[in-house]
Amino acid sequence: MRIKEHPILEFKRGKEIYFYYNGKKLKAYEGETIASALHANGIKILSKSAKLARPRGFFCGIGKCSSCLMKVNGIPNVRTCITLVKEGMVVEDDDKDLPSKEYPPCSHKKMKCDIAVVGGGPAGLSAALEASEHADVLLIDENPRLGGQLIKQTHKFFGSENERAGTRGIKIAEELEEEVKNRGIRVLLNTSVIGYYERENHFLACVNKMAGKVYEIEAKKIIFATGAQENMLIFEGNDLPGVYGAGGVQTLMNVYGVKPGERGLIIGAGNVGLILAYQLLQASVNVACIVEAMPKIGGYFVHAAKIRRCGVPIYTRHSIKKAYGDGSVEGAIIAKLDEKWNFIEGSEMDIECDFICLAVGLIPSIRLVAQTGAEISYINEAGGWVALHNEYMETTKEGIYVAGDLANIEEASTAMIEGKIAGLHAAHSIKQIVGFESKIKKYMEELEIFRQGYFGARPKKAKEEIRRRYYEKMGDRRNS
Ligand code: FES
Repeated sequence: MRIKEHPILEFKRGKEIYFYYNGKKLKAYEGETIASALHANGIKILSKSAKLARPRGFFCGIGKCSSCLMKVNGIPNVRTCITLVKEGMVVEDDDKDLPSKEYPPCSHKKMKCDIAVVGGGPAGLSAALEASEHADVLLIDENPRLGGQLIKQTHKFFGSENERAGTRGIKIAEELEEEVKNRGIRVLLNTSVIGYYERENHFLACVNKMAGKVYEIEAKKIIFATGAQENMLIFEGNDLPGVYGAGGVQTLMNVYGVKPGERGLIIGAGNVGLILAYQLLQASVNVACIVEAMPKIGGYFVHAAKIRRCGVPIYTRHSIKKAYGDGSVEGAIIAKLDEKWNFIEGSEMDIECDFICLAVGLIPSIRLVAQTGAEISYINEAGGWVALHNEYMETTKEGIYVAGDLANIEEASTAMIEGKIAGLHAAHSIKQIVGFESKIKKYMEELEIFRQGYFGARPKKAKEEIRRRYYEKMGDRRNS
């Protein structure tokens, strides 16, 4: 299942190590997650559902869906997609235990900062870098490394040079990570923020589960850049191991160099589905077809043309009816849709595949920011529930900011600019920054440019509605 050759990526595997899965000794490489090491060993079933014991596999690959929970070194409910495998680790798929009442001993640490940034993706990294020019910043991320979804984006970015156009996402992640290091920003990795509370300042409760560490973080301002999670689609067999979110497959393949299977079916012909199809082909994985429910392909024409040239059919006005297989995906039934989105009887096609990727959109990850009391509102164009915020990315709750996908599903370039705006404004609201007005104006103009044209229309509309509702709630007022 490991990718041997790749036209763009070079997989620098770490030291060879061994771990145990249900008592069986398996090979892995340092630096890869437990779930990717299991996939590399051909193991797709990671746990069983609690009631019916249905097999469960990896879906999102970024710690957001909990379908990869396993028992690791006796600790239940470990998200194996974001936990690195270690020499001698004991991994079990029997994860039905409730955590014991006797909590294992753990260390407690109190930390203080001017600005806490939650999430080390493009928005969070940019926010931390911008804010750190003027304030003491602490960056927290639950992944083993920084970069968020950039670390799996092999395509070159569009847009302006300021936002690193022409550079691949994976390279941008490396550059930003390096800048964070050089700037001396404090970073907590493998650390999940599990709660927010308020006294005179803002507080976050965080845990590093595998290391047995609990943190209490006090911050004057918090910027939430917690990203988004992938949408699920309702169809028979959608819980079979081998049904993945598109991003989960990109993680497996582009970050860890592991194939999701030999022949895939992709649901959704937006840019994500089209780019993913090409990336699968680059990794020598066959793509049976792409299925799109809309009458037209949603992604860029240039991507669709490239996929078709590679011989992959794209079926518009089709959807998936069913996935089947014994323990994991062995095939799928797709069918044509009528004008009312019903399947047309007799139009079914049996697609031979051993995995299915859902590229059917994202929803903002707002669960943490919602704990702060910031006003949350449903805005369809923004991708779902979002925290209302003003042009400086501050929410209705004083000192609480958002940036990136959790503030409107968009793309990495705009996430980076929003991160800079949030970081700059949060720092300015602690201590006046000389040249603040001109700098923030420049960032806002850059955002405006990104949101022009056909693909910018939806996010632009979403932002207008977010701001309209923000000021409806706040009057003419801003917090800071
Ligand atoms: S949380 Fe691990 S696959 Fe979603």
